Order: sequence, then structure tokens, then C-alpha cells
Amino acid sequence: MAQIIDGKAVSEQLKAEIGAAVLKLREETGVQAGLAVILVGEDPASQVYVKNKGISCKQCNINSIEHRLPADAKQEDLMALIDKLNNDPAIHGILCQLPLPKHLDENQVLLAIDPAKDVDGFHPMNVGKFMTLKKFSDMADAGVFLPCTPYGCIELLQRSGVKLDGANAVVIGRSNIVGKPVAMMLMSLNCTVTICHSRTKNLADVVRAADIVVAAIGSPEFVKGDWIGKGATVIDVGVNRISDPAAKSGTRLVGDVEYAAASENAAFITPVPGGVGPMTIAMLMKNTLMSAQRAANK
Ligand code: GUN
Repeated sequence: MAQIIDGKAVSEQLKAEIGAAVLKLREETGVQAGLAVILVGEDPASQVYVKNKGISCKQCNINSIEHRLPADAKQEDLMALIDKLNNDPAIHGILCQLPLPKHLDENQVLLAIDPAKDVDGFHPMNVGKFMTLKKFSDMADAGVFLPCTPYGCIELLQRSGVKLDGANAVVIGRSNIVGKPVAMMLMSLNCTVTICHSRTKNLADVVRAADIVVAAIGSPEFVKGDWIGKGATVIDVGVNRISDPAAKSGTRLVGDVEYAAASENAAFITPVPGGVGPMTIAMLMKNTLMSAQRAANK
């Protein structure tokens, strides 16, 4: 049976480390790390995310400033707010919760955030800098922000002691937020990476040859347990709600991988929930700390 990679425990440990570093930074330099979170509209899932970010900021001693705009907010109002936050020295990270209401231009918003405060790592400047890094470990010095979910996957692998050097990694999914960046990160850590997607032929066979499988497709239990090779490591990024008459709420969360069956073959596996999910926010905290450290060193 696979060993469970406990993302909740790792994220708590990481947040404790970040919290101590934030206090140290304040004592040594007077710089208090601050994160601004913008939420437009009332999307229930986004409200939960934003609330959790506030709780994590508290745990990490980071000042959290929430800006809520109505669902019918104008593009120019959102742009003016970002401009204000870009110029506010007390703010080291700016995160605009996605998705935005349909009438707003998401691209324009992401481009407007100062790359030096882009703790989501979504600005093309950060994406480009990251692509040209020689080594993963150069990232802190290069002034780059890595996107939080893929960064969290890497942190989980590294803290679990999974061997990356020379490993065959198969990434399923090619999104800008997870698939593409996690593949680049694995490659920069010396994995041999195969990126698969909906048009990949013989997907099961490709996955069977993997030492590390990262599933980021967004389809419930799409990856079958018998696709996982003996001793492989499974990182399941999927969060899918399915109906379950046996559950009190009538639904439950599952990942992109058939968890129970995959656990019989894998050496390490992340559960859903409690795997990659909690790591995303922890890495956001880490990026905010890094941004405040850079600001203090200027
Ligand atoms: N919506 C869901 N996840 C995220 C995230 O990581 N960042 C932002 N900005 N919006 C999100």
C-alpha cells in the first residue's frame, strides 16, 4: 500500500516556518509582509478560497487586506484599485481571485499587476523569467514568482524525499496554471518529462512507464488505478465534486486519479482532499514572504 503524502500536515509545517520568517523579517528590517486579495462578485467557491487565504495569512503573521468589489464592477474601477495597490509600499503581494465576472477582461487585469507583487506567478514577465531559469534553485535570486499550485506539487515531492533526478515524470494536463508550469519545474529538477493531454495516444501505457505521475485534467477518477506502475509516485491535482448518495451532503470530493486502486500500486500518493489543495495557499504565503524579503533588501 502506498504511503500517503499528507499535504495538510506539510502545509501546516511550511506555514509555521513562514510565520517565523515573517516575524524575523519584521524584527530585523521593520518590514511587515502584506498581501492584498481582490474578490469581484459573490462566487461561492471564490468566497471560500478568499476566506481560507485570510486564515492562512493570520497563521503566517502576514497582513491580509481584502478588497471586495460588486459583481457589476467596472473594469476601470478594478484597474484603479490595482494601480493603487501597485504603488502601496505596505503591499507585497496582489492576488485577484479568478475567475472574474464575464464582462471583465482577465488578461488586462493580470498584465496590470506589478510583476514584483505578482505572488500568483501569472504575469507574463514571471512566466517568461521562469522559462529561462537554468536551475530551479535560482528562482529566489532571479526575482521570479512561481505559480502556487505547481510549486506546491514540487514542494510535496521534495519534502517527501521522492527522487527527481533522472526520474520519468508524466504530466497529464497542459493548462497554463498547472500542467505546463509543473512540467517545466520537473524538467528543471532533472526529470525526463512527458506532457499528455486529451489527444495523447495510448495514455495508459505512457502513464504505466512513469516514476512520477502528476494528474491535472479536472476529470473525476479519469486515471485508473491499474495505469499506475509499481512504486510510482502520484500527485493528484484534481478537485472534482461528484454525487454520492451515501454522503450526508449527497456529494463528495474526488481527484483525477482512482485513489484506492492507485494506492495498491503506488509507493507515494496524495489524497483528495488534503493533498495538493492546502499546499497552494501555503506557497502563496511563501511567495508573499519572498516578495517582502526582496522589498526589504532593496
Ligand atoms: N482561483 C482559483 N485558484 C486560484 C489561484 O490560485 N489564484 C487566483 N488568482 N485565483 C484562483
